[in-house]
Amino acid sequence: MKILANDGIATSGIIALENAGFTISTDKIDQKKLIDEINKQNIEVILVRSATKVRQDIIDGCPNLKLIGRGGVGLDNIDVDYAREKGVPVINTPAASSQSVAELVMAHLFSISRSVYDSNRKMPNSSNGDFKALKKKYGKGAELRGKTLGIIGCGKIGQYTAKYALGCGMKVIAFDPFIDNIVLEINIADQMLNVPVNMVSFDELLQTSDFISLHVPMPGDGKALIGNEEFEKMKTGVRIVNAARGGVIDEDALINALNSEKVSSAALDVFVNEPSPRVDIITHDKISLTPHVGAATVEAQERIGTELANQIIKHFNTISV
Ligand SMILES: NC(=O)c1ccc[n+]([C@@H]2O[C@H](COP(=O)([O-])OP(=O)(O)OC[C@H]3O[C@@H](n4cnc5c(N)ncnc54)[C@H](O)[C@@H]3O)[C@@H](O)[C@H]2O)c1
Repeated sequence: MKILANDGIATSGIIALENAGFTISTDKIDQKKLIDEINKQNIEVILVRSATKVRQDIIDGCPNLKLIGRGGVGLDNIDVDYAREKGVPVINTPAASSQSVAELVMAHLFSISRSVYDSNRKMPNSSNGDFKALKKKYGKGAELRGKTLGIIGCGKIGQYTAKYALGCGMKVIAFDPFIDNIVLEINIADQMLNVPVNMVSFDELLQTSDFISLHVPMPGDGKALIGNEEFEKMKTGVRIVNAARGGVIDEDALINALNSEKVSSAALDVFVNEPSPRVDIITHDKISLTPHVGAATVEAQERIGTELANQIIKHFNTISV
């Protein structure tokens, strides 16, 4: 059976699939030529990341397609309901990159608490005389230990972030309207610890957190979860990270809150209107930036490859039994 991994797949996945007797191609086929090539090459499984789209036209035009796989979380680029209606299952790997996103959040928390990102921007353009001025500017950092991190949305990524933050000595509180209790299993030096998370109301989280990190899906109504009203309730000097989805924080309200010093710094991995974020956001000297790379680690890609391979092998073994 031939599999096309049109946006690539990690070596771990290729090896597992080849060992199980599948043929796998990673030769990228242009979106416009996909239907013809899938039929010509008798491809029965298509794997994509975010670039290739698997819409109705492909599902209708490729009657031999037996499975669609997405390496990663979102399924926005696949017509999932339509595929399932037509009897083509869709699989993905929603948990494989959670740890990677959580580590990026920690990187941003350390970065914004000590202005590392801004120091890296300014020092290369400074002359000798500026060194002292920069030392003074960045010399009022904050430690993470002992501070309260408020996690909004305590699912997979929220829980990984909580574990890292607890490991740094932070106090962790969380708000999640769909979860009442969470006990985290934390492995430290091969010793398992069970640590309950302190679940609080949304308002309590806003009012008591020194740092806030968002890990929610984009609300169905498209309305930002954090706007002017929510910033108003926060502690003065709070720091905030968004590695969830652009638009979960209202970007106008964020700029106002940074300029009024209500929020002392922010970090964004996700933006409204990606891949063309607002210039006043990406040039703001109180915002640490990464271009939506939360899930993008070598380890996550390896896990995604292995997980996809295992799901494909299991799927076809189950069918042939
Ligand atoms: N930056 C990246 O590269 C990257 C990578 C993967 C996922 N993400 C994003 O991270 C976010 C979280 O992903 P996840 O895998 O942890 O998802 P998840 O489904 O495991 O967790 C989301 C949690 O949010 C909670 N939630 C829903 N609405 C809420 C609300 N209004 N207030 C508070 N909590 C709410 C849910 O109950 C759930 O527990 C998603 O937006 C996802 O798209 C970003």
